[in-house]
Amino acid sequence: MADAGLIFACFGCCCGHTNNGAARFSRPATRRAFDAAGLQGRVRLAFSECLGPCSEANVVFVYLHGRALWFKRINTPDLFQAVFAHVRAALSAPDTSLPDTLMPYSFSWTGGGVGPELA
Ligand code: FES
Repeated sequence: MADAGLIFACFGCCCGHTNNGAARFSRPATRRAFDAAGLQGRVRLAFSECLGPCSEANVVFVYLHGRALWFKRINTPDLFQAVFAHVRAALSAPDTSLPDTLMPYSFSWTGGGVGPELA
């Protein structure tokens, strides 16, 4: 069965590193959080090179139910877990709104998204 969605966690030039105010994350720890959220086999998680909006590092892109969601400054494990929890909820309820905790981290970019466009 095909995955229902995609999550790209950027680990490019400016994301996933200590420069640019971004925290450093290990891919294995992020993968474990993804697995703990129960997303394994339902959504694809990939670590990508630069996705474009580097000034907003750490960037996470979600594609689910034909919709794009962009998140910026996902700088803590708690924020990664919040993204994964939202994806899990939205898998079975596509109209699920973003939780208040994630709204400040959501923006519009290539392909759409929820939130203000980046300057
Ligand atoms: S390095 Fe992540 S958006 Fe450019």
